[in-house]
Amino acid sequence: MYPDPVELAAAAAERLRDLIAGPESTIGLAGGSTPGATYRRLAQLDVPWERTELWLSDERWVPPDHPESNGSMAATALAGVPATLLRPRFGSDPAASAYSYEQLLRDHVTPDRYGVVLLGMGTDGHTASLFPGTAALESDLWFVENWIPQLEAYRLTATPRMISEADLVIVLVSGAAKSAVLADVLEGPADRYPISFVRELDSVWLVDEAAAERLTAFTIE
Ligand code: 6PG
Repeated sequence: MYPDPVELAAAAAERLRDLIAGPESTIGLAGGSTPGATYRRLAQLDVPWERTELWLSDERWVPPDHPESNGSMAATALAGVPATLLRPRFGSDPAASAYSYEQLLRDHVTPDRYGVVLLGMGTDGHTASLFPGTAALESDLWFVENWIPQLEAYRLTATPRMISEADLVIVLVSGAAKSAVLADVLEGPADRYPISFVRELDSVWLVDEAAAERLTAFTIE
């Protein structure tokens, strides 16, 4: 547990630096607003970027330079970093884009490389773009388009199937608004939220004190 979002970002960046310095790896980057600070800190560290490739654990269905794009957020935060960031191609058909991105991921996110997936969590317990009640939760594929009725929008997302094949999942959670759902995810019933499946994986939950304030039994970093 970390005192505040700044310390959380520093710890997460150092954890990623250490992973990249290890065996050749691939890292699925989380989207949203939390991880940007981690990526900016990581960009300042001395990292052997040639040992890793980056991809996106989910993306909004927007043009690549749109302010809501996770790929744009990550590329901006990691500006100047000599790493490959694999991004989905935006076009006219989310299903076709998801399919072509999955083929790309299958060529790069391979068993001979240490696979890490970084995830965030929403206040409804979603992760990546696996929102409650949406079709991607049940997919046997790796990466799919997902219609999100709650947003009236498409997203592209890694599926629980793909995330479950990672060697390590790192979940970043910050802020008091998530404290109730985080406690329920980690200490409540094992299948209540989309992110619940991550409890069964080799995962590290990096959280700040505000997000952890309602945790009782669960031990976290
Ligand atoms: C996205 C993310 C999503 C995010 C959570 C938390 O595209 O929004 O991938 O899963 O991690 O919604 O978002 P915040 O970090 O903005 O709270």
